[in-house]
Amino acid sequence: MRRSRIAGVGHYVPENVYTNNDLAKFMDTSDEWIQERTGIKERRFATKHEETTTTLGAKASKIAIERAGITAEDIDFIIFATLSPDYYFPGCGVLLQRELGITKSEIGALDVRTQCTGFVYALTVADQFIKSGMYKNILVVGAEMHSSGLEFNTRGRGVSVIFGDGAGAVVVQPTEDESKGILNSELHSDGTNAEVLSLLCPGSHGGHHHQDKDQFGFPEKNKLGEIFITEKMLDDGFLYPYMDGKVVFKKAVVKFPEVIASTLAGVGKQPSDIDLLIPHQANLRISQFVQKILRLNDDQVFNNIHKYGNTTAASIPIALSEAWEQGKIKDNDLVCLAAFGSGFTWGSIVMNW
Ligand code: UT7
Repeated sequence: MRRSRIAGVGHYVPENVYTNNDLAKFMDTSDEWIQERTGIKERRFATKHEETTTTLGAKASKIAIERAGITAEDIDFIIFATLSPDYYFPGCGVLLQRELGITKSEIGALDVRTQCTGFVYALTVADQFIKSGMYKNILVVGAEMHSSGLEFNTRGRGVSVIFGDGAGAVVVQPTEDESKGILNSELHSDGTNAEVLSLLCPGSHGGHHHQDKDQFGFPEKNKLGEIFITEKMLDDGFLYPYMDGKVVFKKAVVKFPEVIASTLAGVGKQPSDIDLLIPHQANLRISQFVQKILRLNDDQVFNNIHKYGNTTAASIPIALSEAWEQGKIKDNDLVCLAAFGSGFTWGSIVMNW
C-alpha cells in the first residue's frame, strides 16, 4: 500500500527578535502579563520591504528540498498555507514557485486558508494526492508575516503580543514501506463562531453576517461605491485581526485532546503510544492543558512558543523542523500533529517517522 512520508523538513525565522519588553514600548502591556498568559518571551518579525510571507516560505522550502535530496525542479505540486499572504490574489503558491525558480508548468500550486490549522489541512491534502498516485514530490509550506498587519498599540494588544513571523516546509513523497508515513488524519470545522477569530475587512461581505451593518461605513445600498474597504473600516480597526481569546481558549482545550485521541484510535493507538506530539503553538497554557488531559509527560510534547510566539500556519512545521534538528524525532517514532483555530477548524495527523 502506498503511503505518504515526509522526506525533508526545514524552517526559517526572521533575524529580528522582539522581546515582550520591546512591545511594551508601543502599548500598555508587560513581560509579566504576556509570559503568564501565553508563555511567550519573544518573537521574530520580518524585515519590511525586504521579506514577505513568500520569501520566508522560500527559505524554509530550500532547506526542506535539500534535506529530501531533490531539487526544486523535482517538485510537482505546491501547497501553501497562510493567513497573511503577499497579495489578496494571486496566492502565495505561484509566488513561491517563481521565488524557487521553478519555470516548468507541469506543476500545480494551491493555497490553503484555514489559518492555525493550515498546515494540518495542507499536509492532509498532500497525503491524498500522494496516495492517489497523482504527484510524487509535494512541497507543503506554512508561512506567516503577521507583523505586516498587526496593530501595535494598546487597542490591539490582545492580539498583537501573541503573533510572530516565520515559515516551515516539508517535502512529501510516496513510500511502499508499510512501517513508515502518515497513518491517519482527521479534519474538522464548525462555522458557527466564524467571526470569533477573524479579520473581517477588506472583503465582499457588505455587512451580510452582521446585525449592525453601519459599523463598517458602507455607502447606501443602491449607490455605486466601495464596500470592499471604507474609511470607517480603517478608522475603527476592522483591518486588524479580532479575537475573543477566552472563547477560542475554551474550545481549543476540548477539541485538541478530542481530535488527537480520535485520530490515534482510528489506527488502534492511544495517547500513551505517542513519541512526540507537536501541537499548534497557540498558547503554552493550551498545550499544557492538552498534555495534562492526555496524560503525556514533558518529553512527549514539543513546545517552542516562548521563542517565536504564535506563527499560525507556520507553527507546526517550524516546531517539526526544530524537533527533528534537535534529535527529538527518530526513525519509526510515532509523531502526532494537531491544531485548532479560526473558523473554527481543527485536525490532527498521526505518522510513523
Ligand atoms: O492560534 C489561534 C488560536 N488562538 C488561540 O488559541 C488563543 C486562545 N486564547 C488565549 O490564548 C488567551 O485568551 C489570550 C492570551 C489571548 C488572552 O488571555 P486571557 O487570560 O483570556 O485574557 P483576557 O483576554 O480575558 O484579558 C484579561 C485582561 C483584560 O483586562 P480587564 O478587562 O480584566 O481589565 C484585558 O484588557 O488583560 C487585558 N489585556 C492585556 N493586558 C496586558 C489583554 N491583552 C493584554 C496585554 N497586556 N497584551
